[in-house]
Amino acid sequence: QAAVNVDLTSMEAGQRVTVKWRGKPVFIDRRTSGQIESAVADDAAELRDPQSDADRVEDAEWLIVVGICTHLGCVPLGQKVGEPVGDWGGWFCPCHGSHYDTSGRIRKGPAPKNLVVPPYVLVPGEKVTIG
Ligand code: FES
Repeated sequence: QAAVNVDLTSMEAGQRVTVKWRGKPVFIDRRTSGQIESAVADDAAELRDPQSDADRVEDAEWLIVVGICTHLGCVPLGQKVGEPVGDWGGWFCPCHGSHYDTSGRIRKGPAPKNLVVPPYVLVPGEKVTIG
């Protein structure tokens, strides 16, 4: 199945980009130091689908997740500036109110699982091959 190559050279910290992979949206998030810190701090929180932030990234600055809510498959908001990001600053699914944190982990609402991390090969700041 076709892999997707994405040029990362123009992405700045705090910027999010959506690409398509196998017909699905994939969220690429170049996280700020504050977003990374809050994700790592919440490793110690009570998590519905326990996973450390380090287990969800290859490089802390680059979070890459499939942009499909694990409840019933809506596309969460938060990719565009000004959209709601939920109570933990990650993404918010408007369909039934699931909140994801800055690691893409489910924190509140009906979704059972964290946003899925797709297979990828990353050259930080240069490019990523998804798939
Ligand atoms: Fe996202 Fe239901 S599909 S909360």
